[in-house]
Amino acid sequence: MNALFIQNIGQLVTVDPARMTADNPLGMIENGAIRFENGTIAWVGSAIEINRVDYPNSQWMDAHGRVLLPGLIDSHTHTIFAGDRANEFEMRLQGKSYLEIAQAGGGILKTVQATRQATPEELSALTLQRLKRMLALGVTTVEVKSGYGLDFESELKCLRVLQALRAQAPVSLVPTYMGAHDIPPEYQGRTDAYVDQVCEVQIPVVAEQKLADFCDVFCEKGYFDVAQSRRILETARQHGLKLKLHAEEFCDLGGAKLAGELQATSADHLLHVSDDGIAALKAGGTVATLLPGTAFYLRIKEYAPALKLIAAGVPVALATDFNPGSCVIDNLQLIMALACLQMNMPPVEVIKAVTIHAAQALDLQHDRGSLTVGKRADAVLFDIHSYNELLYRVGSNLLTDVYVAGQHSSRQQLEAQLQPVT
Ligand code: NIG
Ligand code: FE
Repeated sequence: MNALFIQNIGQLVTVDPARMTADNPLGMIENGAIRFENGTIAWVGSAIEINRVDYPNSQWMDAHGRVLLPGLIDSHTHTIFAGDRANEFEMRLQGKSYLEIAQAGGGILKTVQATRQATPEELSALTLQRLKRMLALGVTTVEVKSGYGLDFESELKCLRVLQALRAQAPVSLVPTYMGAHDIPPEYQGRTDAYVDQVCEVQIPVVAEQKLADFCDVFCEKGYFDVAQSRRILETARQHGLKLKLHAEEFCDLGGAKLAGELQATSADHLLHVSDDGIAALKAGGTVATLLPGTAFYLRIKEYAPALKLIAAGVPVALATDFNPGSCVIDNLQLIMALACLQMNMPPVEVIKAVTIHAAQALDLQHDRGSLTVGKRADAVLFDIHSYNELLYRVGSNLLTDVYVAGQHSSRQQLEAQLQPVT
């Protein structure tokens, strides 16, 4: 048996719903200890309850009074792509908007060109490096969307790379099919014909070959409208895929209402969500995944109404949206700080948003997202004495140790494996 005890945990932040109370909203145990067995959490409690002699075959680690959290979960990324769009950064500084740049030949389609040309080996190496960087920042589960192929062959190429990485990457990877990320150049002006192709050709194969867990659509003016998004998502559901939707990023098109009505697992972005949209998310049990890094990076002044969503009882998750155009931030810790500073989210809500709610946004809450007996032993240790410091110390990576399915790595070990990503 592979057993590990971590003891002397100053704050063991379980985020276990069964331990949460009004006075202890994150189910925190002070001076805690945790036991992992064969990749699973076997015991959680107070350090004083443990008698070391009862566990002669365990490995022991001392947390030195630091803070242990569930492994962080980044539930919305576009991590598989080739090339870069550094020129767009400068265009935005000169006052051009994201949509203007896309219309002028930049945007998603520029990355599509580079990604179509890349070999699976190149894409795999790039993506693996990016995932390793995320792990060294405390992220143990990453959702990755396709959507820079936009033709049958290139979408499958990306999803197959992800499938292979799923077995070999040091983080858990959740693949999402997003063939409807943009209208490919071959279908310009014929969006409905591309939707036919997505529904009749791409989705059935992706689902049959089990290349993705979710299907996502960019429901936005100039991309896919609500009727087209509905058709794609309903087809995806019929083929057994779970649903996500990019909704109300640049305007209120009604995507949130659609997501709620279809009981999608999550609706993401939501900067312009209406009150009706919020009510629909609540009714549909849909997680609102907010991506404040994108507003920050695109210099949009209005952020998603996080506090309003929370007050309405919608579970709020936070993610990076890491991609080469609208948000190159791969650091979920920075996103957490932005959520506090730009959306006024309290630290307690921010921590739930990258653990239990992010797990829910991936339909994995039964397996991860809290330090609960029976769940996967994914945990991260930070060199702080109170979880609030994780937000307060904006811009520093205070991570010291990561446990992925019970396997320990120090941050130094993880960083030693990083290579430059081009
Ligand atoms: O979530 N909104 C659509 N997709 C990304 C942007 C992707 C890109 O610009 O390459 C997003 O913001
Ligand atoms: Fe996105």
